[in-house]
Amino acid sequence: MTTRVLTGITTSGTPHLGNYAGAIRPAIAASVLPGVDAFFFLADYHALIKCDDPQRIARSRLEIAATWIAAGLDTERVTFYRQSDIPEIPELCWMLTCVTAKGLMNRAHAYKASVDANVAKDEEPDDGVTMGLFSYPILMAADILLFNAHRVPVGRDQIQHLEMTRDIAQRFNHLYGDGQALFVLPEVQIDDEVATLPGLDGRKMSKSYNNTIPLFEGGAQALQAAISRIVTDSRAPGEPKDADASHLYTLYRAFSSRATAQAFRAQLEQGMSWGDAKQALYEQIQAQIEPMRALYAELIARPDQIEDILQAGAAKARLHAAPLIERLREAVGLRRATAPAQPSLPAGSAKATGQVRVVSFRDPQGCFRQRLFAADGTELLLSEPFKDPKELNRLGRLLGTLDLDALIPGTDDMLSLVIEGQCWARCPVGLLARLRGALTELGR
Ligand code: TRP
Repeated sequence: MTTRVLTGITTSGTPHLGNYAGAIRPAIAASVLPGVDAFFFLADYHALIKCDDPQRIARSRLEIAATWIAAGLDTERVTFYRQSDIPEIPELCWMLTCVTAKGLMNRAHAYKASVDANVAKDEEPDDGVTMGLFSYPILMAADILLFNAHRVPVGRDQIQHLEMTRDIAQRFNHLYGDGQALFVLPEVQIDDEVATLPGLDGRKMSKSYNNTIPLFEGGAQALQAAISRIVTDSRAPGEPKDADASHLYTLYRAFSSRATAQAFRAQLEQGMSWGDAKQALYEQIQAQIEPMRALYAELIARPDQIEDILQAGAAKARLHAAPLIERLREAVGLRRATAPAQPSLPAGSAKATGQVRVVSFRDPQGCFRQRLFAADGTELLLSEPFKDPKELNRLGRLLGTLDLDALIPGTDDMLSLVIEGQCWARCPVGLLARLRGALTELGR
């Protein structure tokens, strides 16, 4: 079974080396693993919460998209899109907003930090807090739940948001799921292996500390200039250096094999000057990013290429989003006025009879179909339509010969039950265990 891995990148800055080694590089590496269906998106609605400068928003979306593509993201294989190109996200966000307790949002760390800072300054507690900031976790929940992501790789600061996402999903499932899970409950993924790079001053590399080393922007020159500003101790050339205490060495290690890093360490311990060490670090990083930088420059110069890639990504993403939103609209009661009135029983179930039942019927087109109900009345299967009722029956009796564990769900999380080369019915992955039980009870 494939695992859907999804993560978002807020588009409010220009990627630096720390972003590359800590997020972009590992995400791209994970996206090519077998069994992984990766969804990466530019969280540009989230960026609006922090930034009201339209130029910067526009520029950052472009730079971050170009960075991921230049860094080797296979946009054919993964689904790479912009949040704001998916209208189903704000739609779901509203549905979720309506089931989310305000008290849950009151507890969000980011919001509480703003309130605490205001209180410390003797300001109104909510001074400068927008509804965007307050509801931030709900938008993030919509990003994740709309695509039924199983795993969400994020930094530690996002753990609480994932917990909130699960809370909100559970509440929605409970209110509207009718015994079936409408949303997958996502797991947070924190990667301890991933490098956290020190910045120029040795603190964590971060835009807010103003200590970053640019990844592509400014070219090789800017890279070299930044590296020359890395803080070192005052040991003179010839004096042995303490590699473990040096940010230079930590940076070097993040861009080299174990053996190369060992050799660099030995040179430091033998008294290599800091100047030479910086030159070696520059050359090491430069060799790796120069080819990507060329592609980055090309992409930035041709933004229409980026736009095409993102539009294709949005179309791919909406193939998943649109059917789920349809289902959710139906579930909450936002139905077409012309749709037939709902039967008193919820769709997909019948009276609990205490027994597994097969019900045969003719559909409005005159074709023969069967439904399979669990003992509690839950509909487990609706067969495809068959012209010949005998064939429908004959293949249905062979259901038990299928190796259910070997089935691979489609991107819509449905399993096709193929018998003698014909799809007999489709079954949601979530009902597989119950289907197995029902078939055993039927003696199939
Ligand atoms: N809040 C995340 C961050 O600041 C970005 C983000 C937005 C995100 N939506 C997401 C991450 C959904 C993972 C999944 O890092």
